[in-house]
Amino acid sequence: MTAVLLSLYACLALALSNAAPVHHDVMIKDAPEDHSHPKGEDPPDAKPDRCKGIEFDAITPDEKGNTFFFKGDHLWKGFSGPAELSNSIFKELDDYHHLGHVDAAFRMHHQDDLNVHDHIYFFLDDKIFSYYNYTLEQGYPVEIQQEFPGVPSHLDAAVECPKGECITDSVLFFKGNEIYSFDIKTKSVKKKVWAHLPNCTSAFRWLEHYYCFHGYNFTRFHPVSGDVTGTYPKDARNYFMRCGEGFGHGGGARKQRCSEVKLNAITIDDKGRSYAFQDAMYMRLDTHRDGSHHFPISRLWKEISVVVDAVFNYGDNMYIIQGDQVYIYKSAAHYTLIEGYPKPLKEELGIDGPVDAAFLCPNQHIVNVIQGQKMYDIDLAATPRAVKMERPIPFPEIDAGFCDADGVKKQFRQMT
Ligand SMILES: *[C@@H]1O[C@H](CO)[C@@H](O)[C@H](O)[C@H]1NC(C)=O
Ligand SMILES: *[C@@H]1O[C@H](CO)[C@@H](O)[C@H](O)[C@H]1NC(C)=O
Ligand SMILES: *[C@@H]1O[C@H](CO)[C@@H](O)[C@H](O)[C@H]1NC(C)=O
Repeated sequence: MTAVLLSLYACLALALSNAAPVHHDVMIKDAPEDHSHPKGEDPPDAKPDRCKGIEFDAITPDEKGNTFFFKGDHLWKGFSGPAELSNSIFKELDDYHHLGHVDAAFRMHHQDDLNVHDHIYFFLDDKIFSYYNYTLEQGYPVEIQQEFPGVPSHLDAAVECPKGECITDSVLFFKGNEIYSFDIKTKSVKKKVWAHLPNCTSAFRWLEHYYCFHGYNFTRFHPVSGDVTGTYPKDARNYFMRCGEGFGHGGGARKQRCSEVKLNAITIDDKGRSYAFQDAMYMRLDTHRDGSHHFPISRLWKEISVVVDAVFNYGDNMYIIQGDQVYIYKSAAHYTLIEGYPKPLKEELGIDGPVDAAFLCPNQHIVNVIQGQKMYDIDLAATPRAVKMERPIPFPEIDAGFCDADGVKKQFRQMT
């Protein structure tokens, strides 16, 4: 077990920056204009330009976290850069001339079966191609129904939905206005219609968020209920690609310097999801291969509107401490506030707020609460809960602390 305390300015190795789609300050140089063709009509062999407003056929991350966008026989790798031919990376996609272009694609999430986990599945007409390490797996292509019985051919879109976001490891398939929710383990299919959601021509999961792309727009939806909250549709060119002047949702987005990253709390839940909290935002830490981006805390924890002081997990409950109140959330497909909360911290843990940090090591029931230069041990298995031990700590100021099983890769470069 390794306990990590972060004092004052914590340096997050993956700061709130890198793969975030598009910042307004990034300008992509335009290629010189080609006037040899009538305006608005591309020559047959021209590379499509995603900044002109493309309706993508499919979008998927690969096992390294690169995002691929597909249109016709072209693809784009990542959130910036020009189109290239799909068969320059996925060679066999072009070998079956009777098949059209990629209809749908997703990255399989199924950690119980490492033979398929993280493979990319492409759907072309009635066939599946499965790739890993940019190599077509032996035995492919196969009929869609051979692996996904009950799922129709000629799909429009597909997206993975891991357990924790969906109830079980699932794939959502889209065709017209119908959605087929496929349970990977039981191979059972549930058909749904989300009338308020546009027909998706591609779907993409990015950092626990689910996006339906339609035209050059996209709409964020909840993968279980289909609910759309917020103002949609939005133009994909402002978020998922770098299109230079006139595009972007920057509004001051910029890299934070190490010394500016002041975390309020960090926790790891029973499903291995780890979160850092800073001001009114949170960031998922364990999915950084797909990029990192901060989102409003209220998006996952509806009732939390201001800065949190401390967060820790105990069993499948997440405790969020704010001032002298504690909120307890049940972690399942999403976090739900347990009835009766928030409650006074004093009533729940036998300690007065506010506190600076709190952490619990895996499989333990003693939470360590930090307040100023003191650490208090509180036994969560005891009733009533009360401070069992109090000790001084040798650091001047602690903002966040967490504890994980030994061997888990550290997300933090250093403490300063
Ligand atoms: C991935 O493929 C390349 C060649 O295409 C090969 O050299 C490399 O060993 C492969 N990696 C894995 C992990 O299979
Ligand atoms: C959505 O798909 C349905 C078929 O499932 C079709 O009838 C409808 O016209 C489509 N809507 C749009 C706006 O394309
Ligand atoms: C995209 O969304 C905007 C509203 O944000 C809408 O006015 C426009 O018609 C949409 N375009 C397409 C191609 O869906």
